[in-house]
Amino acid sequence: MNLFDVYPLNDITIVKGQGSYVWDDSNQKYLDLYGGHAVISIGHTHPRYVKRLEDQLHQLGFYSNSIKIPLQVQLAEKLGKVSGKQDYQLFLCNSGAEANENALKLASFYNGRKKIIAFKKAFHGRTSLAVAVTDNPNIVAPVNETDNVIFLPFNDEQALEQAFTEHEISSVIIEGIQGVGGINVASHTFLQTIRRLCNQHNAVFIADSVQCGYGRSGLFYSHDHSGVDADIYTMAKGMGNGFPVAGISIAPKFHAKHYMLGTTFGGNHLACAAALAVLEVIEEDGLMENAATIGDYLFEELKGLPHIREVRGKGLMIGIDLPEELKSVKKNLLFKHKIFTGEAKPNVIRLLPALNITKTEANIFLEALQKELHSVEVPA
Ligand SMILES: Cc1ncc(COP(=O)(O)O)c(C=O)c1O
Repeated sequence: MNLFDVYPLNDITIVKGQGSYVWDDSNQKYLDLYGGHAVISIGHTHPRYVKRLEDQLHQLGFYSNSIKIPLQVQLAEKLGKVSGKQDYQLFLCNSGAEANENALKLASFYNGRKKIIAFKKAFHGRTSLAVAVTDNPNIVAPVNETDNVIFLPFNDEQALEQAFTEHEISSVIIEGIQGVGGINVASHTFLQTIRRLCNQHNAVFIADSVQCGYGRSGLFYSHDHSGVDADIYTMAKGMGNGFPVAGISIAPKFHAKHYMLGTTFGGNHLACAAALAVLEVIEEDGLMENAATIGDYLFEELKGLPHIREVRGKGLMIGIDLPEELKSVKKNLLFKHKIFTGEAKPNVIRLLPALNITKTEANIFLEALQKELHSVEVPA
């Protein structure tokens, strides 16, 4: 049997990881500023994380949601505390797409409506509703097509006001910082306008925090920077530091009914152990503060480098927008300097490192980038 060939692969086999470093099968060491796509939040094989998972595996790996699982209650309490949303409720699932799918469904159950507002360049996942609110026709199959989704320009308050006058809106879904779309930050006033319009029209504000959440921006949810609360936060990636676990944090105004949402694997014992370990490390090691500090440092340093068109983002979610002439920089960082970074089309380097990256590690990247930027002639 062959693998279904859906991913273009780098010819590298990673076999080991520790902190912000990974090693390939020839024992070559790489600095990992990509974190397997924003997943590694507390560093590879963090000892407290490994111990908690190991202990749990010896105890019980899985049992279904038909019994009491006290670890879920502990996780909800911890997440409420660390995210500053103690009165919210937690539903656990397995992936970012599934989290968004459940959030959009819950919104529609809540107000009985169908229309969803999403934004240009948004990415929300690949399941049917999640992909329908994703602005990429190439990954939307005919069966996923729906006229229930209205795509509006990002950060355009007038277009948003207008859409609310023309349609009965069920929900608005927005990434606080668009990831796949190229690191675009939602403005404070835009998020505040979404909040106001959702309040006025009894629509649901869904904050997709799958990539930009979990402390990466320096606050728990990147939407927090605007000073407004969303009705539902969706999360995945950094939540389990590599263990598949996701969830939605749900405002108190939503009332659960038995069977309205559900999943076989969501919230299993191992997933909860992984998620608890991540939150403990984020809290005890001050990782949100570190994300803010190292993020600010990187921003300042990057702004002083030549040829960069724009530096966007917040905390440790940074997009470095390069001109076409420098499109080989990402590849050179990986193959010459042994540094993993992410990318967004057409020429944006995406930094999504572990939240405990050190200044020394940030400097290794800055030096390598500087060398690359100086090695190419770019017309003024
Ligand atoms: C903002 C955002 N939402 C949702 C998803 C989908 O998450 P998953 O791949 O876990 O389904 C992603 C994945 O990249 C994402 O970046």
